[in-house]
Amino acid sequence: MFGSDNQYGVHPKIMDAIVAANNDIAPSYGSDSLTQKANELIQNFFETKEMDIYFVSTGGAANCLSLASLCPNWGAILCHNHAHILLDEGNGPEMFTGGARLIGIGISPKLLPIEVENALLHHDESFVHAPQPKVISITNLNENGLLYSPNEIAQFSAIAKKYGLYLHCDGARFANALVTSAVSPKELSWQSGIDALSFGLTKNGAMLAEAVILFGDARQKATPYLRKTSQQLISKHRFLAAQFIAMLENDLWKDCAQNANKAAQKIAQIFHKNGISPIVPVQGNEIFVELDEKQASKIANANIGFYPWHALGAKAHRFVTSWSSDDNQIQTLEKALED
Ligand SMILES: Cc1ncc(COP(=O)(O)O)c(C=O)c1O
Repeated sequence: MFGSDNQYGVHPKIMDAIVAANNDIAPSYGSDSLTQKANELIQNFFETKEMDIYFVSTGGAANCLSLASLCPNWGAILCHNHAHILLDEGNGPEMFTGGARLIGIGISPKLLPIEVENALLHHDESFVHAPQPKVISITNLNENGLLYSPNEIAQFSAIAKKYGLYLHCDGARFANALVTSAVSPKELSWQSGIDALSFGLTKNGAMLAEAVILFGDARQKATPYLRKTSQQLISKHRFLAAQFIAMLENDLWKDCAQNANKAAQKIAQIFHKNGISPIVPVQGNEIFVELDEKQASKIANANIGFYPWHALGAKAHRFVTSWSSDDNQIQTLEKALED
């Protein structure tokens, strides 16, 4: 029940949109009218036309294509030690970039600008033998459920600019971050200095809705060819576009993320009530708690899904809510804890 946002189904309005897109013949590979409409909606959403948009099939592919667009094969990408790109995408980033090095930094649940700056301070550009940092990558919400505010993003951006790097954001949970921060999409992205955003709506309630967005001067001539070369240019593109339209047109993305975030707050309160405090603040749709074996098995015995999360400690466990989390599910967890 609370294993991962990917375990939940697809919002019925997304299914309806896919079915509605299935009623005609349409140009392939993104030349269709639904793709055009989706692109316009994304431009409106981010309040700029200074962007290139590339739909891809998975969040991992969005990250890999973003990084391949920004980082040469002799470059390096600085990211948090718990980053999805470092731990959970196989060797995808290395393969897409043709060999760029991922360098994990940071020991606290969030990457700190000072840690990135320290890594860059000691970098010697004249030392030809070392990988050359070209990209800073953050995740918002991050892998430990934490939010980077526009102010924090701007600090990473200032460092990126100072050292001539690009700033990438893995936005697999961008919708949850937006709802928590209560700022606009542009404030949480290009206006704070994000150059490339992996904009994911799959976890948010879609089936397959992931995009690489390159803003302003970060737009690259190579990206269309890199997408094709990596076989991420989807032929029946309109079905991806239909999902973006359904999510953005009437703020379905917001309803879904609000539901997920509210459910997470309710779960946090239930844990509190049972003497279990979340080990990091609940800032989106993820709750991290320390459970002893007895507590963990009580929950597991009630058929509730959740995962150990060793990045935050030996006893840490992760619970994830979604657009479809409801009071019944939450009460089942409450009962399991109280039994
Ligand atoms: C932080 C983060 N980034 C990206 C992804 C995208 O993963 P996938 O390639 O499975 O869509 C995930 C999914 O778990 C994630 O948690």
